[in-house]
Amino acid sequence: MFIEEVHLWRGSAEQQALRPQFGNSGHFAYFDEQLDHPEWRGKTVLDFGGNTGGLLLSQDCTIQPELYFCIDVLQEALERGRQRFPQAHWIHFDRYNCSFNPEGIKDLRLPDIGIEFDFILAFSVFTHTMRAEMKDLVGQLRALLAPDGTLAFTFIDPHFRSFHERYDGNNLKWRLDRSQQMNPDVDVDRLMKQSEAAAWCALVDGTNLYVNDDGVWTNEAGTCMTYHVFYTAEFLQNEFPDAEIRLPVQGEMQHCCIMRK
Ligand SMILES: C[S@@+](CC[C@H](N)C(=O)[O-])C[C@H]1O[C@@H](n2cnc3c(N)ncnc32)[C@H](O)[C@@H]1O
Repeated sequence: MFIEEVHLWRGSAEQQALRPQFGNSGHFAYFDEQLDHPEWRGKTVLDFGGNTGGLLLSQDCTIQPELYFCIDVLQEALERGRQRFPQAHWIHFDRYNCSFNPEGIKDLRLPDIGIEFDFILAFSVFTHTMRAEMKDLVGQLRALLAPDGTLAFTFIDPHFRSFHERYDGNNLKWRLDRSQQMNPDVDVDRLMKQSEAAAWCALVDGTNLYVNDDGVWTNEAGTCMTYHVFYTAEFLQNEFPDAEIRLPVQGEMQHCCIMRK
């Protein structure tokens, strides 16, 4: 069965029961390479949208747990992280996210943690938020950087072929193929055609594609189960002109957007 992170927390009982099998490896090697192997020891690190703190479980992770802070909208994920690493810092942020936290508070500001961070990392978080939310949260996160601090977050370019050696399609097609595994009605060819000229696009519940638009989820609760947003590297560079954009590394499909203070 193919499932996504959100299904582990908001999916069926069967999907939630799979939680223990997931979240046991993070993306330390990815950020380590994207940031040119900095010294992590002695540095404060904020893992924004860090879920259960998989980053700390990564092989070769040299981030010190007592200097590691994880902020997430999923209280249960944080509790799991806290059990594994009680010396780290686990902060619940009850902000609305259409997929991960539909009952959260819209536009809630980041809590004042009273710490400046040497590194702020966010892997696959702004791939699940609306465009204005990304801009708002990136602005708030930048304000938390220590002098010489670095913010690095990932995004997915819909037209980029990350897996060209083993997969004949771009990143959006890869996602649509996964969606079709869960829902055979997903019309991959039609959606791919629709996406051709997209500077950015959002895929709602794996079936509806919105080009250069956040999209809509029209049910009363204002929720969707899955929400994936894709930005071309050119578009993201225009959004954040002073950022450095790097290609995916470590076999991942996600580009990295890096901002230094
Ligand atoms: C796809 S998961 C990635 C988890 C983790 N970063 C990793 O690399 O495995 C996306 C995470 O972002 C969190 N998230 C979504 N919106 C958020 C927000 N506004 N603030 C903090 N976390 C958020 C979700 O709860 C979820 O844990």
